[in-house]
Amino acid sequence: MESFDLFETGGQRLRLGSGAFVLRGFALSFVRELMPAIADIEAMSPFRNMVTPGGFTMSVALTNCGALGWTTDRRGYRYTSIDPDTGEPWPVMPQVFARLASEAATAAGFDGFEPDACLVNRYSPGARLSLHQDKNERDYAAPIVSVSLGMKATFLFGGHERSDPTAKVPLYHGDVMVWGGVDRLRYHGVMPLKEETHPLLGNQRINFTFRKAS
Ligand code: SIN
Ligand code: FE2
Repeated sequence: MESFDLFETGGQRLRLGSGAFVLRGFALSFVRELMPAIADIEAMSPFRNMVTPGGFTMSVALTNCGALGWTTDRRGYRYTSIDPDTGEPWPVMPQVFARLASEAATAAGFDGFEPDACLVNRYSPGARLSLHQDKNERDYAAPIVSVSLGMKATFLFGGHERSDPTAKVPLYHGDVMVWGGVDRLRYHGVMPLKEETHPLLGNQRINFTFRKAS
């Protein structure tokens, strides 16, 4: 099923399913604007290691921006409009984030993507994300748009059953992964990050996951 072609602005597009794509380097031209925006978000709603309903502390630290933010605690996974740590609304989604998300979705064939939630994940060496489906959103018509910055990660892209085989997809600084349509509910995860120093981000990987949650 894997094949390559080019997206309109010239980068390489790797197809992982009829609605699943890696857009190599798509976010690179946005990075200069993204960096200060991340600092602003972090200053308002700091990264934190949340606890899963099963009682495990996540190795990935997260925060959010946008009208809704994804959270987890012992009571379950959900979207909230208030940051439970600060008691304040999540930071507003910067315009450059919304523009990147919508342009990437269009490049993958999903026009009119207007995310209301952006989960910001921060990985240090050793951090990982186990296989899961994104299914806390109200409807699955909109795609997921996921932006990678900093250290390389090996993304696992599986099928509709947890036990389905997974493709190992290397994601580099500036890559954008989009999955929607028939691929919207595919299992995915991230392998433990290897020790590495990225010239811009040091030993961290920042990932934005844009969703239409409401
Ligand atoms: C996620 O599934 O929420 C994040 C995926 C990633 O970090 O690439
Ligand atoms: Fe996910």
